[in-house]
Amino acid sequence: MKLKILVGTMTSTADYVAQAIQMDCADLVDEIEVQLMDGLDIGVFDEDALYLICSSTYGSGDVPDNARILYESLEAQPKYLGHVRYGVIALGDRTYMQTFCFGGKKFDERLQGLGAQRIGDVWCHDASAGTMPEVEGTAWCREWLALALQTAQAE
Ligand SMILES: Cc1cc2nc3c(=O)[nH]c(=O)nc-3n(C[C@H](O)[C@H](O)[C@H](O)COP(=O)(O)O)c2cc1C
Repeated sequence: MKLKILVGTMTSTADYVAQAIQMDCADLVDEIEVQLMDGLDIGVFDEDALYLICSSTYGSGDVPDNARILYESLEAQPKYLGHVRYGVIALGDRTYMQTFCFGGKKFDERLQGLGAQRIGDVWCHDASAGTMPEVEGTAWCREWLALALQTAQAE
């Protein structure tokens, strides 16, 4: 199985997390592709792959600038995504109490609305906690991938 990680980022933290996962989890799947969301639209979900949304949060709970076109296309060009299995890594900062991790959570909401099936819970990282998102995200992803592979086998 191929894992495709779609990265929404402003200052590259989400990209570092995705790259750490690409290196650390290579033994668990056939291939891991990391793709910045720039220029993508809903067509990116046409591939037969497992998807991981890895997005930070900006403004007042918005997706990052490079994720906007993809995020908006989920509403502007909607189509049924029942074949899509995905997970979410949402990066944020709890000092933004009202909008903590909304970037990733907003993707989750739209994907669910189109029939895509999330595996596991949305994983949130809090930048104010002082922990390394690459280290924690990689550990989370190894467990998430095990669950995703189990789910795929059971289907
Ligand atoms: C101007 C600005 C606005 C932000 N707004 C939010 C927010 O509304 N909610 C949140 O949870 N985090 C917010 N954050 C925190 C970032 O999402 C967090 O630092 C993240 O790790 C950055 O990842 P990136 O480098 O991949 O963009 C904001 C950060 C900045 C600098």
